[in-house]
Amino acid sequence: VVPIVDFGSQYVQLIARRVREAGVYSMLVGPNITVEQLKALNPRGIILSGGPSSVYEENAPTCDPKLFDLGVPVLGICYGMQVACQLLGAQIKNATAREYGRAQLRIENDADLLHGIPANTSVWMSHGDQVVALPEDFEPLATTPTCPYAAVRHKQHKFYGVQFHPEVTHTPHGHDILGNFLFNICQCKGNWHMADFLEAESNRIRNIVGDKHVICGLSGGVDSSVVAALLHKAIGDQLTCIFVDNGLLRKGERELVEQTFRDHFEIDLRVIDAADDFLNDLEGIEDPQEKRRRIGHRFIEVFKQTAAEIKSEIQNSKSDIQFLAQGTLYPDVIESGQGYSGAAANIKLHHNVGGLPEELGFDLIEPLRALFKDEARKLGEVLGLPDAIVWRHPFPGPGLAVRVLGAITRDKLDLLRDADEILLEEIVANNLYRRTAQVFVVLLPVKSVGVMGDGRTYDSVAAVRAVESQDFMTADWARIPYDVLATISNRIINEVRGINRVVYDISSKPPATIEWE
Ligand code: XMP
Repeated sequence: VVPIVDFGSQYVQLIARRVREAGVYSMLVGPNITVEQLKALNPRGIILSGGPSSVYEENAPTCDPKLFDLGVPVLGICYGMQVACQLLGAQIKNATAREYGRAQLRIENDADLLHGIPANTSVWMSHGDQVVALPEDFEPLATTPTCPYAAVRHKQHKFYGVQFHPEVTHTPHGHDILGNFLFNICQCKGNWHMADFLEAESNRIRNIVGDKHVICGLSGGVDSSVVAALLHKAIGDQLTCIFVDNGLLRKGERELVEQTFRDHFEIDLRVIDAADDFLNDLEGIEDPQEKRRRIGHRFIEVFKQTAAEIKSEIQNSKSDIQFLAQGTLYPDVIESGQGYSGAAANIKLHHNVGGLPEELGFDLIEPLRALFKDEARKLGEVLGLPDAIVWRHPFPGPGLAVRVLGAITRDKLDLLRDADEILLEEIVANNLYRRTAQVFVVLLPVKSVGVMGDGRTYDSVAAVRAVESQDFMTADWARIPYDVLATISNRIINEVRGINRVVYDISSKPPATIEWE
């Protein structure tokens, strides 16, 4: 493992990904981690990340200088370099010329860290401070026109520092530089693969669970599906999955889940048909937040009751449920500030972390806690989940309730389902599903006039939404080709009786949001 000490860099997750992509397992740790704790991880190397602080600020995050006595190679990036250099006797100052963006690196010593890199290459810089004076124990490796120590090495400790960011794609040889650190300097093997993770995680789960029982709420989304398949592999029939049909699902969604998990994986799957309860709760409700509140409340009711029923069944067969499995991903852990104490700057509560399990008296199992979304997908593939699940776009918990604007009726839901099915068919048929982050139809609470055959119509308006996004915090409307939009519009108007007009949403987020409610 190569732990990364997180000093709050916006790129810290990217560093972890780059290391993992190289086949080396990596995790983020907080700056307050002790040298003993680090040692216990048995690290091959340690990376110190960048960060927004200045080393000479009061309370600037730092690390224990004993870290350099571990005998483990350390790579400091940007602020991480400055912290380490300062601890090892160098002087850091606000640079006269700040460097943001591309800079030209000139390599003076290509012995190890910069081995095989062209003597002149561009790198991505983002710093106001820099090392201005180095003691004798250091050796400069590279410079840029305004940064005399753009890469350095310590002569006794296995410490390397780079002022630039090797983890971003704007540093074209960044991948090779990280590779030199991991493989030549740390002597990592680079044989960490998803199949290893699967094996290790299955063993870990078996040890934790013992002869107890686990329940898992299945939503049909990627994360909970991967968790269910993984748990099934680890503990077989000690797993029961719960899928709540809230009457707000898309067409065919429940069937896909049943086919995949009950028929194919032979998992004990309980499908709870609670549509009546949810739709009754929602009758006449127009306010989106109130819709969400009622749906959330009902979901917890249904889930609790089902869990209690399963618990009493299981107890009769002499085992006990002790665990609830959830598909929490690594970014959720970091965002909620639970990964470690400290560093993470913007702390927000994620709906997956905390809450329900304590109330139910279960312990939590979160097998995906260490993974990024694309790694969870890869794991899903290794587990044999179908593409339709592995590559699924996200679908909001409140489902179609927030896509029928205003008050919800069964008729409107049916109309929306039919239109949404056509949209998805066309997006998939035109190879656009993997190129978009989310596509869906919204049923608007207005009617408009149309003409069909010789008659006047007065029917509903459907809005088509398709967005591209990396993290769903920002998004841009997808440039779907006009002829595909034409087919989508034609098919919806011709095939869905009750919709006579289709509009395309061309708003980005921000200032709009992805969903309309
Ligand atoms: P917005 O509309 O806020 O959506 O731009 C960002 C992402 O979150 C999803 N979303 C939700 N997911 N419960 C969820 O589980 C919700 O209440 C909810 N609202 C929005 C949305 O589909 C998009 O992926």
